[in-house]
Amino acid sequence: MTQPTTGVPTTGAPTTALVAEARRRRTFAVISHPDAGKSTLTEALLLHAHAITTAGATHGKAGRRGTVSDWMAMEQARGISVTSAAIQFEYRDSVINLVDTPGHADFSEDTYRVLSAVDAAVMLVDASKGLEVQTMKLFDVCRQRNLPVITVINKWDRPGLDALALMDEIRTRTGLLPTPLTWPVGIAGDFRGVIDRSTEEFIRFTRTAGGATAADSDRVPFDVAAAEEGEAWVTATEESELLGEEDQDHDEARFLANQTTPVLFAAAVLNFGVQHILDTLVDFAPAAEARVDAAGGHRPVASPFSGFVFKVQSGMNASHRDYVAFVRVCSGQFRRGMIVTHAATGRPFATKYAQHLFGREREVADEAWPGDIVGLVNASALRVGDSIFESEPVEFPPLPMFAPEHFRAVRSADSSKHKQFRRGIDQLDHEGVIQVLRSDLRGDQAPVLGAVGPMQFEVVEERMTHDFGAAIRSEALPYQIARRTNRESAEILGHDRQVEVLMRSDGTLLALFSTPWRLRNTVRDHPELMLEDLTAGA
Ligand code: G4P
Repeated sequence: MTQPTTGVPTTGAPTTALVAEARRRRTFAVISHPDAGKSTLTEALLLHAHAITTAGATHGKAGRRGTVSDWMAMEQARGISVTSAAIQFEYRDSVINLVDTPGHADFSEDTYRVLSAVDAAVMLVDASKGLEVQTMKLFDVCRQRNLPVITVINKWDRPGLDALALMDEIRTRTGLLPTPLTWPVGIAGDFRGVIDRSTEEFIRFTRTAGGATAADSDRVPFDVAAAEEGEAWVTATEESELLGEEDQDHDEARFLANQTTPVLFAAAVLNFGVQHILDTLVDFAPAAEARVDAAGGHRPVASPFSGFVFKVQSGMNASHRDYVAFVRVCSGQFRRGMIVTHAATGRPFATKYAQHLFGREREVADEAWPGDIVGLVNASALRVGDSIFESEPVEFPPLPMFAPEHFRAVRSADSSKHKQFRRGIDQLDHEGVIQVLRSDLRGDQAPVLGAVGPMQFEVVEERMTHDFGAAIRSEALPYQIARRTNRESAEILGHDRQVEVLMRSDGTLLALFSTPWRLRNTVRDHPELMLEDLTAGA
């Protein structure tokens, strides 16, 4: 490990440098329903940006559909995965931060937190499936967070849905007006290429051998394309014109106001459309900008350093158990070694060990700018959602917590391991791996764990055994629904043996119900009770 810098200045770079660096940043995440091609696209993006040289270097598929332990092993083997947080690379004159999201829907709470740390999202849609369950949930979260979304219709090389029908589906189901930047020539499965609707060129679809290297776009003038593509060309140009008449041309202001979503057609596995995605990010996606704080004010990018933790991970380095807090830089210049203040405790916090992460490779981060992600190593005082700052205090809004839908009561398998058990559960709680719920009735040694997806429990079991040496015994509880409640309501609910009220570690009281029917009955019998739905942002 490199020694900490000494004599770090307490003030950062001049305002002009800060603003210029922030303007160059594009911080985004690729999101999708599982299997739409997120890993494939991630890899292809890096390939195009020359961050890696051969596709496959970061992406192995073995064990994809296996059990959770296979899945965890696969994540580790793959490098770009839940075990890394962000990949930074330069493209044109921009600095791109691609923040990773886990692939499995059971870990969607992590994905939602990542969406708090980015400035735009690339939504992948499988051309043959259209909008799927997770696609809809993610569109919803982006809308709630005012996050601009670029939609990519992937797998266009395969038979799929009709392009106009897909646009209709996006418009009616997401409320966003799709504004295609490209338009396909030839139907899905008989893909000839796309019209670049802004330059009026035809980008020919050429298959590269196994998709192993970046394909150069083959751009052809309109008249040449018309002669070559015949009927398919006529249809595509007519449809493109129709879109123009329907006001479905890209408009920067409407995109940034979250009214529209630019659409691109791609075949990630064949590297088609990938460069266009990068260009769209650079040309249209927002740069790092002033961030809303918890008080509703704005923290300009040129203010002294500030940031917030959106993810915490331990055990990333197998040789020693470390704890890395990933911070999104919101303002100012981050300088390794600087002393920052932890907003939650008011305590000073040294940033001796800061890193950028590229897959499993770590680089020491000497400086970072608004939009960047830094990993602070051994920052065990920091929890998910915590803010840190230099000189001018600021606190960013808490990160969303979702309503758990799966519940298990846990205890230590070995009664002599109470301490390890307690430490492990608290740690996993800090990391946001699981929600920890307690009640006087159950006692401190027998908390209830709440999960959005059941695989989270498997991660807990594995981590408790291997990281904390405290194997657990757990028992599934028959609850499916959690509602936020208050003390008065909790007292009334306490008389109902079918309902259990527990306190989450953030102080929220949750009433757990076994079925929707049970919840409806309770509401009918006691309309005065406070029983709030916990949605994103709650
Ligand atoms: P995910 O991370 O979103 O879950 O998806 P992933 O990239 O793993 O892709 C899911 C499957 O879709 C993979 O096939 C992948 O090769 C395929 N795929 C991704 N992009 C495209 C595309 O543009 N066109 C076509 N035709 N297929 C695409 P698989 O069978 O699960 O794995 P493998 O056999 O390719 O290794």
